Amino acid sequence: MTMQNDIQEVLFSQEQLQARVKELGQQIAQDLGDKDPFFIGILKGSFVFMADLLREVDVLCGMDFMSVSSYGDGTSSSGAVKITKDLSQDIHGRHVVIVEDILDSGVTLSYLKKYLQVRQPASITICTLFDKPSRRKADIHADYVGFLCPDAFIVGYGLDYAEKYRNLPYIGVLKPEIYS
Ligand code: IMP
Ligand code: MG
Repeated sequence: MTMQNDIQEVLFSQEQLQARVKELGQQIAQDLGDKDPFFIGILKGSFVFMADLLREVDVLCGMDFMSVSSYGDGTSSSGAVKITKDLSQDIHGRHVVIVEDILDSGVTLSYLKKYLQVRQPASITICTLFDKPSRRKADIHADYVGFLCPDAFIVGYGLDYAEKYRNLPYIGVLKPEIYS
C-alpha cells in the first residue's frame, strides 16, 4: 500500500524544498560561519531537514540531536513538553542553532529555549522549516524560516501524522478520511 494514496494535495514539492533549504543553509553559513556554530536538531521531525540543511552549510560546526515530545498521536498540542533525549555535549559559550521542523503553538520551542539558556550558550538562534504564525500561543519567533505554512496539518519530509508519512519526500496534506 503506497503512502501517496493518502495524500490529497502536495503543498511543497521536493524541488521547492531543496531550493529553499539551500538558501537557508547558505544564509546561516554567511551569518554564523566564523562562530563555530552548534546545530541541535529536534527529533524526530527535523531529521530530514537537518540532514539536508547541514550539507548546505559549508563551515566547520558541531551538531547533535535532542528529542522532545509535546504531541500525542493527534494533530494538536497537548501543552506538556518532555525531554526524552538530551545533548551529549556541553554547549557553554557556543553559538547554538536549534533546527526545528515546524513552529506551531510555539510551546515546544519556548520551553526548549529556556531549558538550554540555563547552560549559558553564547547565543541561541532558531531555524524552522515551517512557521504557522496564526497558531502561536507562546511568545517566540524564529530567526530563519523556510516557508510560512497555511493553518493545515502537513506531513512528509520528516513530519508525521501518528508516526507515519515521515519518509514522504515532499510536503502534503492528508485526505480527511485518514484522520477518522
Ligand atoms: P508547537 O509546540 O505547538 O509549536 O509544536 C511543534 C511540534 O508539533 C512540531 O515540532 C511538530 O512535531 C508538531 N506539529 C505541529 N504542526 C504540525 C503539522 O502540521 N504536521 C506535523 N507535525 C506538526
Ligand atoms: Mg510530531
